[in-house]
Amino acid sequence: MAGSAVPDKPLIVAIDGPSGVGKSTTGRLVARALNIPHIDTGAMYRAIALAALRAGIGTRDEAALEDLASRVRIDFIPGERERILLDGEDVTSQIRTPQVSMAASDVSSVPAVRRILVRLQQELGRRSGGVLEGRDIGTKVFPETPYKFFLTARPEVRAQRRYRELLAKGQSVDYQSVLAESERRDMQDSTRTDSPLTYDQTYTVIDTSDLTIDQVAEAIVQRVRSFC
Ligand code: DC
Repeated sequence: MAGSAVPDKPLIVAIDGPSGVGKSTTGRLVARALNIPHIDTGAMYRAIALAALRAGIGTRDEAALEDLASRVRIDFIPGERERILLDGEDVTSQIRTPQVSMAASDVSSVPAVRRILVRLQQELGRRSGGVLEGRDIGTKVFPETPYKFFLTARPEVRAQRRYRELLAKGQSVDYQSVLAESERRDMQDSTRTDSPLTYDQTYTVIDTSDLTIDQVAEAIVQRVRSFC
């Protein structure tokens, strides 16, 4: 009978955790296996941070950041190689510098910025489902999803991964500053008042220190399929 079918709810997989645990690569593999988009929410905070740096706005200036976040247009284009656009400009590689990383952590502690980006993430997820990765996906963005994963790894393993990632992107960095930066950023992300990085008993916690990315992705996919 027309109208009697209830549409399936979009599948949302939440992957949260600190920097350097392999969330992005894992998220991409999981999304491909489940045939849903991969949505890197950190890229959105990075885009706002880049816009602030370009405009000479302090990354802790709440009023100016609220105004900026409500004016700029951020488009996230999921895909095999997802892109992030800031007012139509492709800034996918510009947002990956250490300077933008720290600025992204700063702007992400501003509630007005979070409000705007959480809404955008919810819209994207509701439209076609997705593997969303970030810091607050299972606590704030989609708390109702049963598929929540928190990835961890030993601090030196995380710093090593970030270091190799940045080297591979051709950036000149030294290991000690990468370690210091990721410790500072994780501390700031975990102790902010609005939506700090955290997890609860509704999450499956995976220590990725001694696992390959494929093993982590496989564990997540299996768990999601066993629920479905
Ligand atoms: O995942 P990432 O390193 O690209 O994220 C950059 C910063 O954005 C990170 O330091 C904290 C913030 N962030 C956040 O507060 N909430 C999210 N859902 C994703 C990222």
